[in-house]
Amino acid sequence: MSNPFTGPIITPTVPAPDIVRCAYLELVVTDLAKSRAFYVDLLGLHVTEEDENTIYLRSFEEFIHHNLVLRKGPVAAAAAFAYRVKSPAEVDAAEAYYRELGCRVERRKEGFTKGVGDSVRVEDPLGFPYEFFYDVEHVERLTQRYDLYSAGELVRLDHFNQVTPDVPRGRKYLEDLGFRVSEDIKDSDGVTYAAWMHRKQTVHDTALTGGNGPRLHHIAFSTHEKHNIIQICDKMGALRISDRIERGPGRHGVSNAFYLYILDPDGHRVEIYTQDYYTGDPDNPTVTWDVHDNQRRDWWGNPVVPSWYTEASLVLDLDGNPQPVIERTDASEMAVTVGADGFSYTRPDGASGEAAEGFKLGAQV
Ligand SMILES: [Fe+2]
Repeated sequence: MSNPFTGPIITPTVPAPDIVRCAYLELVVTDLAKSRAFYVDLLGLHVTEEDENTIYLRSFEEFIHHNLVLRKGPVAAAAAFAYRVKSPAEVDAAEAYYRELGCRVERRKEGFTKGVGDSVRVEDPLGFPYEFFYDVEHVERLTQRYDLYSAGELVRLDHFNQVTPDVPRGRKYLEDLGFRVSEDIKDSDGVTYAAWMHRKQTVHDTALTGGNGPRLHHIAFSTHEKHNIIQICDKMGALRISDRIERGPGRHGVSNAFYLYILDPDGHRVEIYTQDYYTGDPDNPTVTWDVHDNQRRDWWGNPVVPSWYTEASLVLDLDGNPQPVIERTDASEMAVTVGADGFSYTRPDGASGEAAEGFKLGAQV
């Protein structure tokens, strides 16, 4: 088998596992107390269980044991991107699928993590530690525990975002795995900069962002309303940690969601996200954005800070060592849109559009 992280992606002959949704992320953090202050005291995630080395957290509307595991370790990194599959048999299917892909595969009947049973963990063809499980411990769903509901309450795990140097290669792998593409960003030369891919009926369970990888770009939790996100900003201001607000709040072009990006004590990026749209119909069309459209990443046209393009978290192999980072050789989105040779537009040349015409007419009155 050639290097599985750069070679061609084989399409296995066995069926892909039937994935339900992204379910949890395992993060290695270097100071558990500082991370607890960020995820529990600031963001209000709910502790299911904890000990001196590990904290298991869940969002307000979750009924499985956790959506986020914080594990103390020497190097800040992502240790597992975990997906729930549709039945116990689909865990077997995942094992067979990745064995045929030639990936490193570990099966543990007792699971890798508290609250999770039989599972398969793999080093996938992009170099990410993926996990698949069905058996899980159910816990109290807090949906109507309004006594616990905070003004910035995080209600669901929404998605992961992964940095990979070759987005089309990653897209083929994830499409083979049963993901569908809701939106993507390309240029007129055919370079793909990013793709949003889903199993559940939202814009994504994970996205691929072009860059040096494999790295974790961010994990995203959703809130009910936009004002919940504003509250998190206000709270971070009040706590004098506004330097941990990296980007936003704003409205995305891609996904149409309202967003905020913040950084945890190790620099792991967390997105707070709300109000994207339904994607469940089988012929849901893929929305393609031009990389030069300055409303693709922020609908209001606000520039993206360079760190958002360059900074990301390492990922671990199954022995717990950081995966080497492979450089992207295609054009980078930051160079295209922020660099001196870049350009962007609010309206394409020659196109005015009804909304723009209406604005001009209004301005003449
Ligand atoms: Fe995101």
